[in-house]
Amino acid sequence: MARILTGIQSSGRQHLGNILGAIRPAIELSSDPKNEAYLFIADMHSLTTIKDAATRKENVLATAAAWLACGLDTEKVVFYRQSDIPQVAEMTWYLSCFTPFPMLANAHSFKDKSENLSDVNAGLFIYPVLMACDILMYDANVVPVGKDQKQHVEMTRDMASAVNYQMKQELFVIPESKISEEIMTIPGTDGRKMSKSYGNIIDIFLPEKQLRKQVMGIVTDSTPLEDPKNPDTCNAFALYSLLASESQIVEMRQNYLGGNYGYGHAKQALFELILEEFKDERIRFDALMQNPENIEKLLLEGAEKAKPVANQVLARFKEAIGY
Ligand code: ADP
Ligand code: TRP
Repeated sequence: MARILTGIQSSGRQHLGNILGAIRPAIELSSDPKNEAYLFIADMHSLTTIKDAATRKENVLATAAAWLACGLDTEKVVFYRQSDIPQVAEMTWYLSCFTPFPMLANAHSFKDKSENLSDVNAGLFIYPVLMACDILMYDANVVPVGKDQKQHVEMTRDMASAVNYQMKQELFVIPESKISEEIMTIPGTDGRKMSKSYGNIIDIFLPEKQLRKQVMGIVTDSTPLEDPKNPDTCNAFALYSLLASESQIVEMRQNYLGGNYGYGHAKQALFELILEEFKDERIRFDALMQNPENIEKLLLEGAEKAKPVANQVLARFKEAIGY
């Protein structure tokens, strides 16, 4: 039995790229009965960049609602909010006193953020220690993350090994990272990687009219309606293929190659496919967002399940260092 743990950035509404690239694979991984899964919303990390309390709260709700709507089963997964177990902040202090300054100064993500953000706070610098505590505090064995977080998991391993060595005991479980390289990058409406920061997303949870507007905004070339079109260079076709069945893809390819089929038709077909594919998710998302107290309740129940493990590891660490 492996304990799988990962943190989710609470960056607000989750787009099609997040759903196909992160949410669905993580839910699939966690539904394997051989694994025990811990999934949490990293709302303390988000304080490094988001200072507005209402925005942070809204982001947690929308993020949790998206995961729950996409099928996260809180009976099978320990699903919680980082800040509900603030012992992680206490542990961050202890671990930071064992963490060499140059290790943190060399983190790619810190270098990147400190060059690009106007608010370069100490939280950004200590970010990897908080992340290490997120992982070590729950004795996690496997940490699925995107490539950009690989270095943080390596730093976690280094911090844990150094403390184990210094304390001459196996205080911390050394986690492995699981990098999801095989997952393809979902293109956005302009053909670049779909990302909130590029403003090219498809938000499948939007009301129909707004969702249709996003889909109709997919950038295509200016081949006239009656001419044949190349499906393999078309973004609308690429997105359609991600969701459609084999026979639907074959039919759409023929439509493109045959001519007299406009990009508007293809986009309308994609829009309808999204509505069909995510029918249940959309209903569940709206119901959850209308009753945020239900989300709140689920997160608090998750925290109750996670807390005993966190307290145990913290006590083990404190005893070893003499508190
Ligand atoms: P964004 O780029 O919109 O800010 P995040 O960086 O918050 O997205 O990503 C959250 C998760 O979703 C990560 O696991 C990331 O790998 C995945 N993800 C984001 N965009 C895509 C995409 N276009 N294709 C596949 N996966 C994606
Ligand atoms: N830093 C991660 C990200 O930006 C989120 C995160 C916080 C995390 N704590 C974690 C991921 C612990 C895995 C394990 O995506």
